[in-house]
Amino acid sequence: MGPEMTLTLGIETSCDETSVAVVEGGRRVLSNVIHSQVDLHREFGGVVPELAARDHLERLPHLLELALDGAHVQPPDIDLLAVTRGPGLVGCLLVGVGVGEGLAAAWGKPLTGVNHLWGHIYAAMLTRPDLEPPLLGLVVSGAHSDLVRMSEHGRFEVIGRTRDDAAGEAFDKAARMLGLGFPGGPALDRLARTGSPKRQPLPRPSLPGLEYSFSGLKTALLYRLRDLGLGVTDQDRADLAAAFEQSVVDSLLEKLDRAMRESPNLTEVVVAGGVAANSLLRRRTAELVEGRARLTMPSLELCTDNAAMIAAAGSYAAVRPAEVDPSLSW
Ligand code: KG4
Ligand code: ZN
Repeated sequence: MGPEMTLTLGIETSCDETSVAVVEGGRRVLSNVIHSQVDLHREFGGVVPELAARDHLERLPHLLELALDGAHVQPPDIDLLAVTRGPGLVGCLLVGVGVGEGLAAAWGKPLTGVNHLWGHIYAAMLTRPDLEPPLLGLVVSGAHSDLVRMSEHGRFEVIGRTRDDAAGEAFDKAARMLGLGFPGGPALDRLARTGSPKRQPLPRPSLPGLEYSFSGLKTALLYRLRDLGLGVTDQDRADLAAAFEQSVVDSLLEKLDRAMRESPNLTEVVVAGGVAANSLLRRRTAELVEGRARLTMPSLELCTDNAAMIAAAGSYAAVRPAEVDPSLSW
């Protein structure tokens, strides 16, 4: 059965969001129930894998019910189950895959394992149902900053990635240094809006080719805060948040620009993943791509982890061409 006809139930448990969704035809979200564990992990300042896995297991049955009810469907209506198989926290992935296998056996339905990064790209196809490959993608999440060429459904060629921290990880660590707690990315985004990147400029990471690096920038922030010492003001912190954000965004877009110039006949650009919720990145990406290609960034809810994107990717998962080299692809 092609994706046009499929009713897919998606399950996402790779990190700290538990989510179940129903997607029709790989493109239309009938329900997308998301439970964020931020309150569970806040006191620890980051995701605690064991707590995350246990919470996924406890919440999945209820979320499953909500997703089916929300979509007004019942298990016999479902054609396919899709579950995130990686990358992610192993214990968390095991919970999702285990529940997916159990449901597939109980309901007598096929199950497909989905690469989480495919999911982030397919989130753009939920936002714009007419979007088709070929496209150039930038996936910026808590664990990845990957530039990828998607030439057709199921075929992803990674052309650039980070050497050290991912963009989201850099935002989270910077936020912690600035005393913003967890989760850091959205808080840093808000604080940066009240600062100026010019008053406390930070270096812009620069590597050759399409590679990223954010660890030097992180160290620069650490040293600047140390120099400021106890005299650091709220305005300094806001200015540093703005400078850090600008530096990460400049770096992400410098490579995206380069990848665009190296992509002949480019028509579609997708920027997705949790960091694509960042307001400066959204605005600046739109300016960069304007007049050169069509840009799709998923809606905010579809940028961060959710099961609708996994269901969408799962609807197309069976089409992966046999000759794709896994070492160069996701
Ligand atoms: O894709 P995602 O939900 O989970 C992973 O697959 O990792 O991305 C989460 C990351 C976190 O690092 C979070 O701080 C970051 O996305 N993030 C943001 C914003 N919203 C989420 N970073 C910067 N600005 C934001 N508004
Ligand atoms: Zn993600």
